[in-house]
Amino acid sequence: MARAFPIQIAPSMMCADIWQLAEQVHQLEQAGVDYLHFDIMDAHFVPNMPVGLVFLEQLRPHTQLPFDVHLMVDNNDFFVPLLVAIGVQSISVHVESAVHLDRTLTLIRSHGIKAGVALNPATPLSVLRYVTEQMDYVLIMTVNPGFAGQRMVPSAYRKIRDCCLFLQENGVDIPIQVDGNVSFDRIPHMVAAGADILVTGTSSVFHRDGTLLENIARTRQAIAEGLRMRRHDNLRIT
Ligand code: DX5
Ligand code: ZN
Repeated sequence: MARAFPIQIAPSMMCADIWQLAEQVHQLEQAGVDYLHFDIMDAHFVPNMPVGLVFLEQLRPHTQLPFDVHLMVDNNDFFVPLLVAIGVQSISVHVESAVHLDRTLTLIRSHGIKAGVALNPATPLSVLRYVTEQMDYVLIMTVNPGFAGQRMVPSAYRKIRDCCLFLQENGVDIPIQVDGNVSFDRIPHMVAAGADILVTGTSSVFHRDGTLLENIARTRQAIAEGLRMRRHDNLRIT
């Protein structure tokens, strides 16, 4: 399956060490990651609240890295103008919480910000059918959202591949972002299945057994393996 997007790394900042944050962001910049991924949770759509908007606001002036925000909230439209004011570059909203998804995606784009649609593991791809023109990327949750350190759901590889096929069938050429247990072992299979943007947390970039730089190097090796598998299209979907 031909996919033309470069594979991008988006460290999940809820997994960063708040005490070492400035140094970690500097290392991430040096290592050439593509985004900083921020999980904004309202403790209602998901039972957690790892970081608040002040975290992004205070970090914003200190790095040029694009801010990729993943909203896991009930009231998406409340957060969009606040994120615009902070200066983020992409916002994904969950289809499961977006009562007026088309309107919210249009609102995000009206500010010149990329709009993504996030799907929980059990949500079928068919919900995307009538917003394919309003979205800039799809976020496939490969864990049930809300917490770091979880195990990938069994359907993840198949869903990534199905999402690839869905986008191709609908003539939509946009990247697929994956989020949750994006580990050194799973990255090759996720990339081979069609993942383009990797949200990397405690399973890879912030893995406790290595330094950030070591972990990013391992992540890039895993990406290379995934691209080799993709070329030979020998994904074994279990
Ligand atoms: C899950 C979070 C992710 C991710 C964290 O809701 O959105 O940031 O799971 O990374 P892992 O899963 O590797 O700890
Ligand atoms: Zn996320």
